[in-house]
Amino acid sequence: MPSQRPRPLARGSEVLATTCRRYRGRMRIRSETARDQAAVEAVHRVAFGDHGHAVAALLRPLRRRARTRRGVSLVVETDGRVVGHVMVTHAWLDAPRRIVDVHVLSPLAVLPSHQGRGIGGALVHAGVARIERRGGPAVFLEGSPAYYSRLGFEAASPVGFRSPSLRIPDAAFQVLRLPAWEGWMTGTLVYPDVFWELDAVGLRDPA
Ligand SMILES: CC(C)(COP(=O)(O)OP(=O)(O)OC[C@H]1O[C@@H](n2cnc3c(N)ncnc32)[C@H](O)[C@@H]1OP(=O)(O)O)[C@@H](O)C(=O)NCCC(=O)NCCS
Repeated sequence: MPSQRPRPLARGSEVLATTCRRYRGRMRIRSETARDQAAVEAVHRVAFGDHGHAVAALLRPLRRRARTRRGVSLVVETDGRVVGHVMVTHAWLDAPRRIVDVHVLSPLAVLPSHQGRGIGGALVHAGVARIERRGGPAVFLEGSPAYYSRLGFEAASPVGFRSPSLRIPDAAFQVLRLPAWEGWMTGTLVYPDVFWELDAVGLRDPA
């Protein structure tokens, strides 16, 4: 049973401070503004390569959703240039007791020229820290366990969560339980329409 309390999360600000030292203070994480939108799309197109177009298509509807449901959209800027972006938006957990408001981290990207310097990790921590401050109990994602386990995420199925699709490899379905999470908050993650409308859930068989 999923009774274990989540471990404390390294603060986004601590990770950011470490990363900033590497950049000698030339890097900052801030909320995305309307003026950043083209640069943010470009980051995803370049970072995701062949999938860049599909990921960029998610941004507009996710931004709209982030506005009405208090999501998070953060950019990393170095020397006045946007080099990374993360979005964390609202979803539901169909728990036995009631529907619980949770969040999904997607998408995340850093320009290839700036990868491997801790920027992706700093963005994840900063995004999650904002959800934690607002009392959100959990952040879910689909991604590489090798990457996200370093950032505090764990496989979601063994702790009692059900994936929204059988096409998400079990190891890729991950969660970060936050201090507001309680043991009864298990059940099925329900993605908002946006991900389904754009067929952006899990992996499809190659044609
Ligand atoms: C994933 C991504 C955001 C990481 O950004 P970053 O700024 O390079 O991340 P960090 O600097 O915090 O971490 C880099 C480390 O993660 C590792 N890493 C990056 N992507 C990885 C992956 N998919 N699986 C496992 N490890 C990964 C790197 O090899 C590096 O390891 P090292 O520290 O041992 O050298 C970036 O590689 C990217 O934009 N990739 C393309 C888009 C993408 O895949 N987004 C995530 C979708 S789930």
